[in-house]
This record gives sequence, structure tokens and C-alpha cells, in this order.
Amino acid sequence: MRIIRTTDYDDMSRKAANIISAQVILKPDSVLGLATGTTPLAAYKQLIRWCDRGDVDFSEVSTYNLDEYRGLTHDDPQSYHYFMRKNFFDHINIDLSRTHVPDGSNPDADAACADYDKLVHDAGYPDLQLLGIGNNGHIGFNEPDKYFSKGTHCVDLTESTIKANSRLFDREEDVPRQAYTMGVQTIMYARMILVIASGEAKAEAVRRMCFGPVDPECPASILQLHTNCVVIADEAALSQCPEA
Ligand code: GLP
Repeated sequence: MRIIRTTDYDDMSRKAANIISAQVILKPDSVLGLATGTTPLAAYKQLIRWCDRGDVDFSEVSTYNLDEYRGLTHDDPQSYHYFMRKNFFDHINIDLSRTHVPDGSNPDADAACADYDKLVHDAGYPDLQLLGIGNNGHIGFNEPDKYFSKGTHCVDLTESTIKANSRLFDREEDVPRQAYTMGVQTIMYARMILVIASGEAKAEAVRRMCFGPVDPECPASILQLHTNCVVIADEAALSQCPEA
């Protein structure tokens, strides 16, 4: 695990965008694993600017998002389908048919998850997987648990995640209680993992991810075992990691 310390959120975002664009320049038909949340927003904005200028070309790229709320249709403004289009896909020259997000509108959880696993498997798994981290150490929607999950599955969101994500909804009651998420094993199949973290609220999760025991109670801690994992975090997120 390599840790890159940045001064602030903007610095973190530019560095992350640089790495993603380098991946796409080196391999134009890259498979990218993408994340939602507020953390990647400025990196997506930067990539949109570079795409506008012709510096990076997404026309041959395929994408696979980590997760989606169960029960939301693709055009629901709170869905991750909608988020990705609004914040990234609608502004770059990507072929939308090559973008993938788990199908939260399919009420048959087993089928929705098995279908998504097959898609990611058939694509050969991501060349680069972008990850944010939850305040409780979750990645995707893999919540703290007694064991590490494997493939795509349906999860019950923890109270802490519902609370954290409620800032993006009108009311806490509106936050869906379940989600479909790629499993930890699927995430670990990516050839490179890029974790981004910003702000004091992430400091404890970042410390446990980078320096704690590898423990499913902090799902991100398994990334210590990945052979090519880069963490880009700002001073505040690294404030509990003086050794980094
Ligand atoms: C959600 C997403 C995660 C994301 C996390 C942190 O729960 N499922 O993929 O990493 O939130 O979000 P934020 O970047 O907004 O802090």
C-alpha cells in the first residue's frame, strides 16, 4: 500500500484524476471501476475538463460502478445511476452502453447481483478501481462484518452509513435501507486500486485501513493485502497517521 499525502481536497482530486487519466492514456480500452459519494466529485470534474480539451479520451473505456441503492429506478435523482450520469458520464465522450451500475430497480436481489457479477467477470475485472471510504471503514457498501464478502450481494446498510448518507437526501427516512454492492473479493480482483479520502471525519477509518489489523470489522483494511493499492489522502484524513 502506497500512501500519498496531499495538502487538501483539491490537491487529492487532481492527483487522483492524473492517475486515472494516465491509465486511460496508456490503455484506451481500460476497464474502470468507479465510485460515487462526494469524495470523487472534483476528480470527475477535472477529468471532464481534460476530456473537453482532448487530453483524455473515454470513447473506448468501460466502467463498472461499485454499488447502487436497492429499490431506486435509474432515473431517480438519488440513484447512483443518476449520480454517475449527472456528475460524469453525460459530460465525457463515453459510450453509455459501456457504463454499468448494479440494477437497483430489480427487486430480485439474487438475480441482480449474479447478473452484475457475471458482467464484471466477463469484462476481466477493472484495470483500475477507484474507491472512497465510509466513516466506518466501508468500501462500496461492504459494511463492517464478521467476515469479508465475496461477490456482488445485497446488504443492509448500518445506521452509521444511513446517517452519513442522509445529508444527500431530504430526510433520513428517505435513505434506502439496502443496497447491492460488489463484494470485497471482487474489488480485490482489480489490478490497481486507488483510494481517495479527505477530511477529519475519515481520519479514524484511514488509520484502520492503512495501519490497523486486517479485520472485516474495517472492510478497507483488506486493501493492505493488495499488491497495487495507492491511497491518496489529505492532511486531515491522515491526521491519525503521523507515520504516513
Ligand atoms: C457511500 C458509497 C461509498 C463511498 C462512501 C463515502 O456509502 N457507497 O462508495 O465511498 O459513501 O462517501 P463520501 O465520499 O461522500 O464520503
